[in-house]
Amino acid sequence: MKKRNIKPLIIGNWKTTPATLKDAVTFVKNLEKKIVSLKKKSVSAHYFLAAPDIFATPLIEIAKHGEIGTQNVAGISIGQETGLTTPSMVASTGATFTILGHSEVRKRGEDLHELSQKVALSLKAKLTTILCVGESERDKEGNYLHALENDLKEILADIERGLFSNLVIAYEPIWAIGAPVPATVEECFEVVIALRRALATLVGIEYAKKVSIIYGGAVTEETCKGFLVEGGVDGLLLGRASQDVKTFSAILESCFKN
Ligand code: PGA
Repeated sequence: MKKRNIKPLIIGNWKTTPATLKDAVTFVKNLEKKIVSLKKKSVSAHYFLAAPDIFATPLIEIAKHGEIGTQNVAGISIGQETGLTTPSMVASTGATFTILGHSEVRKRGEDLHELSQKVALSLKAKLTTILCVGESERDKEGNYLHALENDLKEILADIERGLFSNLVIAYEPIWAIGAPVPATVEECFEVVIALRRALATLVGIEYAKKVSIIYGGAVTEETCKGFLVEGGVDGLLLGRASQDVKTFSAILESCFKN
């Protein structure tokens, strides 16, 4: 597997937007123009866009400075199941990554066993796999940290260690998703340390080091850089901020500028 060293990882999660394929194509064309103008200012930005499945393939052709992925995959291989898309199907289109375990998907009934299967198959299909974890609320005793560590251990216990270099953990506190303000950089940093510790216990430091950790939840143009500088993360997962070309490109500029 080719190890890509793109840092920071700035990933847009389009969710159920935009409304039409035409809008999606226009968005990516405009984003590409912005990236070209950033290059003229010596900022070489790279983006990842998790599009709705049905829009992904046509966008791959026009995304020259970025990569297109999906927001979920099925935890099964080729076979007789109606209405699902397998990781190898996604990879065969030229999509390079997928988000998995987003809280909005878990809320619809995805359990840890199913999620673990999705992670295994998606890594095997050579998709960069963005696994989301996050607490719904915090308690003073710090039990949420143990819950997050356990979540991670349960999902990753049976995953082949050699595939870890293509795994990205997205720390997404559920209380910050769709909220007016994100977590503070200190709150983020604390969890990053806990997740790194959990990974190291599970697979050893050598493999744990290969895993990137990113933050998601109410990130804005104003707050993006702080997470990279003080929050201890290798990138960001953006919801609303990735659904507007101007905001998305402003965040890319701020994050890729030295
Ligand atoms: P938000 O969403 O940036 O709109 O809060 C983040 C996410 O759900 O990944």
